[in-house]
This record gives sequence, structure tokens and C-alpha cells, in this order.
Amino acid sequence: MTLLIPDEYPKNLFREDGKRLDGRENFDLRSIRMEVDVIKNADGSAYIEWGNNKIFASVYGPREVHPHHLAKPDKGILRVFYRMATFSVFDRKRPAPGRREKEISMIISDCLEPVLFLELYPGTSFEIFIEVVDADGGTRCASTIVAALALADAGVPMRSLVTSCAVGKIDGKLVTDLSGIEDKAGEADLPTAITWFNDEISLLQFDGKLSQSELNESLEMAQDALEKIYDM
Ligand code: CDP
Repeated sequence: MTLLIPDEYPKNLFREDGKRLDGRENFDLRSIRMEVDVIKNADGSAYIEWGNNKIFASVYGPREVHPHHLAKPDKGILRVFYRMATFSVFDRKRPAPGRREKEISMIISDCLEPVLFLELYPGTSFEIFIEVVDADGGTRCASTIVAALALADAGVPMRSLVTSCAVGKIDGKLVTDLSGIEDKAGEADLPTAITWFNDEISLLQFDGKLSQSELNESLEMAQDALEKIYDM
């Protein structure tokens, strides 16, 4: 596992043989393993190992909303809780949910809401608890996928699955699926997601700098990666 200490970021993110530090070519994904029905007390659950990332998701619902005032009379609500375990990163992460976790919970919820039929469940909630136990770049993407799998495992009707992957730029070159060190020491990071029932991009964040043509090329690379992951 790469240790992310800023003073010790490598000078080059490519090896002498032209491959990335973990041996990948520019367009390669890290290895991905997905499993459902891993948590017995949940209505649905899933686990994803994506490179060094290890993430669980569990789904509960439709069930009564707590606190009650959050309930909506005309539709169900979706609540997503993305959390990183204190031991999931090199520095001890503070246990209380920070701004980053709230933001990631929100974007995952925005990605998943369009695929659900919340209008069929007035007054109730679906809750998704995501626990990152090991983090190494791209956890928001892996979490979006594992949350969608857990919803499917719970038997919640869905218009389609959601697939997510980041692309970006390191040492001047466009690459697919940034690892933690590439995310931190690279020049641009572009997490994307797609909802398959309408082929719409449901997540597009952008950190760093890219030219217009690089942005276009990155989106094509993202589309390729998203299709590969969807096939898995
Ligand atoms: O995980 P993701 O790429 O979606 O989000 P990020 O905020 O860009 O974080 C990139 C990576 O930084 C994470 O995957 C972790 O490996 C690492 N990180 C960390 O070391 N300490 C934190 N408090 C948060 C993130």
C-alpha cells in the first residue's frame, strides 16, 4: 500500500519502462472484485475491492424515517452515509464525519437517486451506510458502485445500476483510474459516473487543470472505463 506523505511524493509517477508506479499502462484499471450479500443484518449489502480500496455498503429500507420530520409525504427519501474508518488511511482519520465525508455522501446520493423509484415509497427512507476500511484513491467512485450493488442486493427496484470511475492527468499524461498517490501528486482528477438507463453522466467533478482537448479525451477514456466496469 502506498503511504501518502507529502514530503515523500515520488518525483516521477511513471517508471523508466513507461509504466505507472503500480505497473499499469495509462488506460488500465486496477483490479476490481465485487461481492453481494456480505452483511447478514442488512436488507442488502455489497463489498468492493478496487486496487487497495476495500469498501462495504449496507442498505436498509424502505423503513420508517428517523427523525420523523425528515419524512416526505409524497415520496421516499434516500440517505447516504459515506464514512472512512480511522485506520483506513496513513494518517489517523478523525472519527467524526468531516466536510469531505458529507460532500461524498451527497454526491453518491445524487448519483443514485435518479435510478430509484422513490415516488413509490412516500413517508419512508432508504439508508445506505458505506464504510471505507482501506483507502487508496477513488473511494467516491468505488463507493458509488458498491452502494448501487447493495441496493440491488436488497431487491430495491432500480432503473439501472450506476458505474463510476475517475480519470485524470499525471506527469503530463492522461490516465484512467488514479491511485491514491496519483490523485495526490498528479495534475488533474476527474471522477465520473453514469446511470445506464438513460446514459447520463450523473457525476462529474474536476480537480486540477486540463485543456479543452484533454478534457474531451478524458471523457472518452472515462466512457471506456465505465463500460468495462459495467460488464464486470
Ligand atoms: O477517495 P477519493 O479519490 O474519492 O477522494 P479524495 O478526497 O480525492 O481522496 C483521495 C485519497 O486520499 C483517498 O482515497 C485516500 O487514499 C486519501 N485520503 C487520505 O489519505 N486521508 C484523508 N483524510 C482523506 C483521503
